[in-house]
Parts: sequence; C-alpha cells; structure tokens
Amino acid sequence: MHKPLPHDAARLHVTGAARYVDDIPTPVDCLHLAFGLSTVAKGRITALDLDAVRAAEGVVAVLSAEDLSPNPDCSPSNHDEPLLSDGTIHYAGQPIFLVAATSHLLARKAAAKARIEIAGDTPILTIDEAIAADSRFEDGPRIYAKGDVEAALARAAHVVEGRIEIGGQEHFYLEGQSALALPQEGGDMVVQSSSQHPTEIQHKVADALGVPMHAVRVEVRRMGGGFGGKESQGNHLAIACALVAARTGCPAKMRYDRDDDFVVTGKRHDARIAYRAGVDAEGKITGIDFTHYIRCGWAMDLSLPVADRAMLHADNAYLLPAARITSHRLKTNTQSATAFRGFGGPQGMVGIERVMDHIAHSLGMDPLALRRLNYYAPAKGTAKDGEAAVATPGGRLDTADLAGRGSVKVETGAGHAKRFGGAHSPVPSVELGNTTPYGMKVEDFILHPMTEALADACDYEGRRAQVAEWNAENPVLKRGIAMTPVKFGISFTLTHLNQAGALVHVYQDGSIHMNHGGTEMGQGLFQKVAQVAADRFGVGMDRVRITATDTGKVPNTSATAASSGSDLNGMAVKAACDEIRGRIAGVVAEELQADPASVVFEDGQVVAGGASMPFDEAVKRTYMARVSLSATGYYKTPKIAWDRIKGQGRPFFYFAYGVACSEVVIDTLTGENRVLRTDILHDAGASLNPALDIGQIEGGFVQGAGWLTMEELVWDDAGRLRTHAPSTYKIPACSDRPELFNVALWDDPNREDTIYRSKAVGEPPFMLGISVFSALGNACAACGPQFPDLQAPATPEAVLAAVKRAKGAA
Ligand code: MTE
Ligand code: MOS
Repeated sequence: MHKPLPHDAARLHVTGAARYVDDIPTPVDCLHLAFGLSTVAKGRITALDLDAVRAAEGVVAVLSAEDLSPNPDCSPSNHDEPLLSDGTIHYAGQPIFLVAATSHLLARKAAAKARIEIAGDTPILTIDEAIAADSRFEDGPRIYAKGDVEAALARAAHVVEGRIEIGGQEHFYLEGQSALALPQEGGDMVVQSSSQHPTEIQHKVADALGVPMHAVRVEVRRMGGGFGGKESQGNHLAIACALVAARTGCPAKMRYDRDDDFVVTGKRHDARIAYRAGVDAEGKITGIDFTHYIRCGWAMDLSLPVADRAMLHADNAYLLPAARITSHRLKTNTQSATAFRGFGGPQGMVGIERVMDHIAHSLGMDPLALRRLNYYAPAKGTAKDGEAAVATPGGRLDTADLAGRGSVKVETGAGHAKRFGGAHSPVPSVELGNTTPYGMKVEDFILHPMTEALADACDYEGRRAQVAEWNAENPVLKRGIAMTPVKFGISFTLTHLNQAGALVHVYQDGSIHMNHGGTEMGQGLFQKVAQVAADRFGVGMDRVRITATDTGKVPNTSATAASSGSDLNGMAVKAACDEIRGRIAGVVAEELQADPASVVFEDGQVVAGGASMPFDEAVKRTYMARVSLSATGYYKTPKIAWDRIKGQGRPFFYFAYGVACSEVVIDTLTGENRVLRTDILHDAGASLNPALDIGQIEGGFVQGAGWLTMEELVWDDAGRLRTHAPSTYKIPACSDRPELFNVALWDDPNREDTIYRSKAVGEPPFMLGISVFSALGNACAACGPQFPDLQAPATPEAVLAAVKRAKGAA
C-alpha cells in the first residue's frame, strides 16, 4: 500500500499487447456496422433512399427508424435520444440509418451512398441564439443562493463586472468508441464495450432488445481513455450491435471512425459566465452574482448534473459571504454535450478565477495575495498533528494505515527537490460561517499551508519581480505568472450513485481473483484496488489477478466517474477481502489455538499466537474445513445528503485540493504562447500509489491547459463541426508540456475515513490548468493599462485580441 508501483498493464500498453474491444479476435460471420449521418443541423427528412446502400458490396442489412419498432432510446437520462432519427433532425452528425456489412470499410463505403433529402429549418446553434429563442431544458434557470447579494453589491467599496466565454472540448480518447455484441442461446446477449458504465450499457441493451437485464452481460476489460466521453456516448454503438446481432444471429461490431467520433458524440459543455462581484476596501469579496449559460446541445444526456456541478464549483476556494448562481441549461442543435473530466466543475471554477484576476487588476493587487485573502478558513490542525488534530467528523486517523508508506515525494523535470507536507497552518482558524453557497460547511480546507509551501518552493514572489523586469525590457515577448488553487468536491451529486460492490475469490492454491464495479481507462484504478487486496491478505501483488469488469459478477454498478473509482471500489474490495480474511483467521486460530482477533496477515504468512503458517497453507486448511473462500463486498459513502433543487446540503464527502503556479510567454505580434514552467502541489491524501497519482496530476493538468489554450471547436454557420479530426483540432503534444514541470504530492492523510485515507485524484488536477490561462491573462496585462479580458481558449487569435484590449484599443 502507498507504494509507487507501475500500472498493472503498463507493459501491455507500451508493447501493444493490451487488448481493447477492437483487438478481440473477430468471430466468424462477424458483421461490421456504420451509421449514416445527417449533414444538416435541423429539419425534417423528406426522402430517404437507401437502395444504393442496400445494393452496395458486402452489405447484409440496412436499418432506418422505419425498420425499428420501437426505435431504441440511447439517453442516460431523459428518453430523448432515439437510436436513429425518427424523421426529425436535431444536429449535424445525428445517425439516420445503420448499415451492417462484412467489413468495416465496406460498411462505411455503403453508408456514403445514401440519398437523403432534408427540409432544413433554421438551427439554434449558439448561446445567444438559444437565449433569444428561450430554448432550454428546464422551465427556467436553476438558482443556488446564500445571503443578500444585492445588498452586498450595493454596499461594496468596489464592484467588477464582466463575462467570459469558455470553449468546449473534444475528449480525444486514443481508443475511439466501440462495441462488440455476441449473440447467445435463448436470446441472451454478451456485449464487449468501451464504456465507463457497463451497467448502463446492460440496461440500455436490455431495453432495446425487450429482455430483462439478466439476459444481457456486459464486459469491459479496459478503455484507451474515456475522460467522461464514455459515460453515456457508448450506448448507441452497443445498442446498434446488439440489435443487429439479435436480428441476424451474427456477432456485430462497431467502432466509429475518428471523424465520426468527433461529429456524432458529445463533448465538454461550452459556457458563458457573467459576473458582478463586490469587494471591500481590502479586497475581500462581499457578494457575487454569477450567471451561467451552459450550451447543452440537442438532448439532455448528463447536462443537468453537469450544470449543477458548475454551480457547485462557482466558489472554488473562496468564502463568499453572499452569492447567487443562476444557471441556464440551453438547448441547441449541436452534439449533445456530455461528461468531461471535472463534469462542469472546471467551467464554474474558471468563472471565479476570472473574477479574482479581474478584481486584482482593478485594485492593483497581487492576484495571489487577493486569492489567499479570500480563501476559506483553514481546517483545524492537520491530520498528522496527532490525535487531537484528527478529531474531525471523519473519526480518528488509524496510524497503522500509514505504516510502510513509500515516499510520496516524486520529482519530475529538472526542478527543485523539496519535501512538502504536514505543514502547520499559520492562519488562525475561523469556525463560523465557513460555508459554501450551497450550505456545506468546509471543514477540511488545507490550501493555506499548501499555497504557502508552493509559493516558497517555486519562489513566486521573486519570479513575479523577474517577470515584471523582463516585461519592462522586452517589447515583443511578454511573460506572465499566476498561481491558482483547486478545491474539488468528491462524490456523485446524485447521492444514490455513491455505492459500489466487489467480488473476491481466493482459490485453493492461494491465488486471488479480484473483481469490482469500476472500469479501467488508464487511470490505474485496477492497480490501486489490487494493492488494497494484496495488502488485506498480506501477500505480494503477483497473487492478485485483476479481471475485466463484468455485470455478471458485480451488478448495479455506477459509472466509473466523479473520480470516485478507488474510493468506492477500494472500500468494496476491502470489505470482501476482510470477510474472507475473517473466515481464514477463524480456521487458523482454531488450529493454532489462538484468539481469532489476534490473527495477522503479513509477508505471505498468517500469524497467530506466536505461530505462523504460509498464506497458501492457511487457504488450503480453510478449504478443507469447508469454509467459503469467496465473498462479495459492498460500500456506500457516508455522511452525504443533497437537495439539488434547493441547492442545499452536503453533496460531497470531502474536498480534494491542489495549487499550481505557471509561467508563460506570449508573442504579442502573433499571439503564439507557451508554458515555460509549472509547479504543482496536489493533495491525494495518503496516496494509494504515488506514481499513478503523479501521472494523473500531470495528465490532468496538461489536459486542462489544453482545453484553455489550444483546443478549439469550431462550428460553421450551418452547425457543422469543422474541427473534426486531428488535422484541425489540436490537443497538447509532448512538446506542449511545460519546459520545467515539477509535481509533488501534499503529504497529508484524508481527514475523512476513505480507503487508507487516500483522496480521489482523477479529475481535480484538470483544473490546475487554469493557472496557465490566468498566467496568459497576466502576460496580456503587461501590454497596457486595461484589463485584457482574455477569452477561452486562449488561442493565438484570442491572445492578440486581449493584447489589443489591454492597450486600450477597442
Ligand atoms: N486518466 C486516464 N488515463 N484516462 C481517462 O480516461 N478519466 C478521468 C480520470 N483520469 C481518465 C483518467 C475521469 S473523467 C475520471 S472521472 C476518473 O479518471 C475516473 O477514474 P477514477 O474514479 O478511478 O479516478
Ligand atoms: Mo469523469 S467526467 O466523472 O467520467
């Protein structure tokens, strides 16, 4: 436990031996599917001539909505996504018909031969168009509020007002969406899917086939990245494959070509955030009014909880005495926007970080000083300060949990070497009123000491002065520096999703077969959870077999999402292991005439009352004693309670924290820019695996920085996505990472009782990328006296526009 072991499949990944859905040897008679897509954003189909498609080489079946009754629903939420267009066209990219052919290429070639006539209508594409048409998913906006905002703004010494446009983001998982359906006897179906949510696939396939869920089994060994894009977007492919397999009796496989993947599937929600913020003479925020406009696309998908999470992160790390967040969920004729790492949180957080930069500029303050001034009050003590310090509601810290931890300091790049952690907060604790705009008390706030530690380590003050010096001397290249915090809430905001199950078998030879409801998408969940299993039995990792997620082994699972994979499944696996451990201990204690409670599992031995026996031997004796060596485990997150309509309660079990400092340079003539250096200090609690967690932090940061700088989605006036391939859509390459990149873990166990006191790490680091955006704004501000009001993504064009605004040009 807590050791920086490599990802269980690292060798398979780099040698190409890791198996993804499309690598599964194709069964005999397998059919390959492709969708025919609309190229029009809104309208009605007036003629659909598929004769040429049917006649094309290799085609076995062609289906349109007419051939399907009912037309299966693919939506994860609202029953508003028919598999194939029912005659109405909602976006350019919508599937209209389905081709099954003898090869992938022949299916695609045939699909291109359709003759489709669509009576076009004027599409609603942009946020402005949706507002004008009052096109939305709920009757009106949702509002979360705390205190009297208008009074606070009226009394404020200073008010800043503005708005920021924030672009969307394509997931660009390396492995595209795919599914393979294998028909079984009696109408049963087995589906292999690249999905973060096998139970959802099972549920939707069962609905589509008109069979109970018990007739469908879904298996997911791994995904080549999901990033939220495989929470719901894989439904269409799995349903299409299952339908064709059920009709033809042949296996059916579908994978989107990369262009189709861009055009068909939903992305991160783009957003506009308008703000009015009041501050006192010192710079303390007194009240803030946010209006979120979230572009949801044509179907509901996960947009409501995504927009909720944007609201729940509108405060980020800052105590807002009065706040109102108004959220409009706009319906447009574009791809149905979906989950993407952070699930709306990043958009909400960009809003308040923009406000911080805007206020600092107006008051002529150091933005970091302003941020720290507005932080939530710190938690009392640290979890490491001894027993008194951990008398938090999470209960006592079991120091045994920390025994044998490896070092959590991992260096990357050529930066400084300093061990962080366990620092004592210099800021006095304030208990009263430390609540979020949604009424949750912030009890674990550790950003004061983290910020101080990182600011010292990366010499924020000194480098801020150097940046100013450089800017005074250089007319063309301008530098900027910014340090931004992250406070991210951990738990599904739909409370019932916070549960997980596991199934563990110990075989007669002492080998362990581990299964749980979480899915592996590269994040290292399986490795972490296998470490839990090995630790519970006191054996080496080589004993533990990691197996594919399977709805037949663990039922009714939640999506692997909300960063909660290891929190939930780690606990469920621990419960299953401990159940078996207790049974083995009972048998061993009887044989060694010891107290069962005294039995210890360590170093491959089972130890009791001064004697010990190898784990294998203990297992064998348990089997011979006719005691079961198989158990299920179950876990549900405690303490959470949330009313999402009122916006009140405790949606999160705890918060994960991080802070990043980025230095950038811009070319004021071309707008080109790059990141010179980034220093990160991130809180993974008592990290389950520091190597994997560092990987998540590096990857999350780079993906977040990519979102806010180079990744730009462009739709034309007809609503067609023009950036639909790597040729036109750029994600960060290796060379785009900061030239100097230091990442360290904050060494402080979770105050809440999570698996080995670790914290979730999948999404929070994504928002550390905001430091790059803020630094770019800081560089633009060096070009003139006005607030540059940089918009996201900060492409060269956006940077040039901001430079112009800074100079005072219109
Ligand atoms: N890391 C990799 N390598 N690939 C991914 O697809 N998805 C992210 C994050 N890290 C992702 C990733 C997202 S969106 C989430 S919610 C979490 O991993 C899910 O896994 P976890 O709950 O096990 O952290
Ligand atoms: Mo992650 S967006 O919760 O799949």
